[in-house]
Amino acid sequence: MKKTLLAAVLAIGTTAAWSQQVNVICSVQAEWCNMLSTVYARTTGVKVNMSLRGSGEALAQLIAEKDNPKTDVWFGGTGDPHLQAAEQGLTLEYKSASLPQLHEWAQQQARQAGYKTVGIYSGPLGFGYNPELLAKKKLPVPKAWADLLKPGYKGDIQVANPASSGTAYTMIATLVQLMGEDKAFDYLKGLHKNVSQYTRSGTAPIKAVARGETAVSISFVHDGPQEKMAGFPLETITPAEGTGAEIGSMSIVKGARNLEAAKKFYEFCLTPGAQELAAAAKQFQLPSNKAAKVDANVPDFRKIKLINYDYAKYGASTERKRLIARWEKEVNSLPR
Ligand code: F6P
Repeated sequence: MKKTLLAAVLAIGTTAAWSQQVNVICSVQAEWCNMLSTVYARTTGVKVNMSLRGSGEALAQLIAEKDNPKTDVWFGGTGDPHLQAAEQGLTLEYKSASLPQLHEWAQQQARQAGYKTVGIYSGPLGFGYNPELLAKKKLPVPKAWADLLKPGYKGDIQVANPASSGTAYTMIATLVQLMGEDKAFDYLKGLHKNVSQYTRSGTAPIKAVARGETAVSISFVHDGPQEKMAGFPLETITPAEGTGAEIGSMSIVKGARNLEAAKKFYEFCLTPGAQELAAAAKQFQLPSNKAAKVDANVPDFRKIKLINYDYAKYGASTERKRLIARWEKEVNSLPR
């Protein structure tokens, strides 16, 4: 009883101490979201109400809240849906004084959205694989997109659903840019035969690989080291034909109720110190602030064959909607 009372008093004390609050949708992994909100709240006295959503789900929520926004800032998630949100007038034009401190790709993301979003990190798409499970199943390490179509991998590949996950949409856009649209959809139909399930979250497949539930995933390679550090048998590779990279982004919601708090939080997230919290939370995307330390676990972009991803085109709302609808109709509806 005493304990409960004390807890209640402490809770009231803490609540009363909050000077302001900010409502954030967070589309990176929970460890980073929690680290960010805890550090920000402790250092500023501003309460951070965080809810975790995949990139596609976050966009869907902003669309649903359009007339009565409850969210102030959308932090993280792949850049394409942030560009779509900008185009649909869901996010606010805001030009941070820190923009020149960011890498060109992050500034370019801001410019092409009319400053309604900004790049906060980047990371390449590739495969996760479980070397132990592959050896047990006598399967080779997949080195190319083409390898994933081989019948040996049937039932052993996981990737997310592009409607909810920015990772999976990045895969579709990457394949379309690599192969041309019709060939990419033929490829996706072939891949479908080998996929055991399309998960809601983009990071679920690599976690399933690490835990030996499936042998291969299509994932961002920066999500690999965390699993390896936790002791799981997990390796990553980028496909020989070339691959795409995301520009993880951040946007302020248009009509945000806590606008001043939103701007302060946004500015904080662009600082080198805040961006280094990612690695502290074992998240290894490349930070957008040039002064942020780059952890040794961050993938080395110079060693990866990257396509010249057309962010403006694949972040356009008609294109994103059309490609996802085509995938639903022509791929996801097929039997396996
Ligand atoms: O947090 C890990 C991460 O891979 C980010 O780099 C990326 O922006 C996000 O997940 C995408 O998540 P989802 O595919 O669920 O939208």
